[in-house]
Amino acid sequence: ACPSLNVIPVIDSTNQYLLERVGQLPKGAVCLAEYQAAGRGRRGRQWLSPFGSNLYLSMYWRLDAGMAAAMGLSLVVGVALAETLQSFGAADVKVKWPNDLYYQDKKLAGILVEMTGQAGDAAHLVIGMGLNIAMPEHEGESIGQAWTNLTEACGALPGRNALAASLIERLQRTLEDYEEKGLEGFLDRWNRLDNYLDRPVRLLIGNREVEGVARGINAQGALLLETVDGLVPFIGGEISLRGC
Ligand code: ATP
Ligand code: BTN
Repeated sequence: ACPSLNVIPVIDSTNQYLLERVGQLPKGAVCLAEYQAAGRGRRGRQWLSPFGSNLYLSMYWRLDAGMAAAMGLSLVVGVALAETLQSFGAADVKVKWPNDLYYQDKKLAGILVEMTGQAGDAAHLVIGMGLNIAMPEHEGESIGQAWTNLTEACGALPGRNALAASLIERLQRTLEDYEEKGLEGFLDRWNRLDNYLDRPVRLLIGNREVEGVARGINAQGALLLETVDGLVPFIGGEISLRGC
């Protein structure tokens, strides 16, 4: 496979760049930037993207509509990103349901999957990843939660080019596997990487809050929460998980 690489030093958002071009892109096309003026997270939140110290990478993919709508996608992308970082020596990186990477209970990376396409047709997906590598403390001052850098998680810091190349390669393989086999083949791997497995957590669902013990994910990608009512699956984009 030979994906097209669009390396653009200064951009609004690498996700936005690919979303505006979905008709012209080969599957696996990548956009990389050094700085994002309007990096975004889920539900319109901001992804802080200072110059030169992090990785901002998006990939275009096309999937059959049913699979694209499934919860599984951001989970398998999380596995691909975590396993890539582990292969560079960051042994203790973890995933947090549904779309983050954590190290020592601090946010290391975020994943944002965006989609366009007609109902019933194949969906055009843009899969974006923001990874903090060596973001200076003062650049991240406005982040309203604990965050960290790959420099903390890794003994020797890998070169960014080698990291980006390896990530692109693994991401492509992972998406092909997901197309073929679905989430099933990733469940054990995800659960092994789960930062909150068997730990007390809170789920924020709009202005409702549910407490319980996190017990991993099921075959639909739902988070399993052990509550006073038993084991309850939670699924959907409007849920945020917090440690207790
Ligand atoms: P959720 O559990 O719903 O995903 P979240 O607070 O992590 O909650 P996201 O939309 O996933 O929300 O991510 C956006 C949030 O991530 C921002 O509101 C900010 O708190 C945090 N953030 C922004 N930029 C960075 C960054 N470079 N590194 C770490 N965290 C960041
Ligand atoms: C999140 O935690 O909510 C996801 C953050 C995703 C950030 C990445 S950086 C590259 C790509 N371009 C964006 O504007 N967002 C994603």
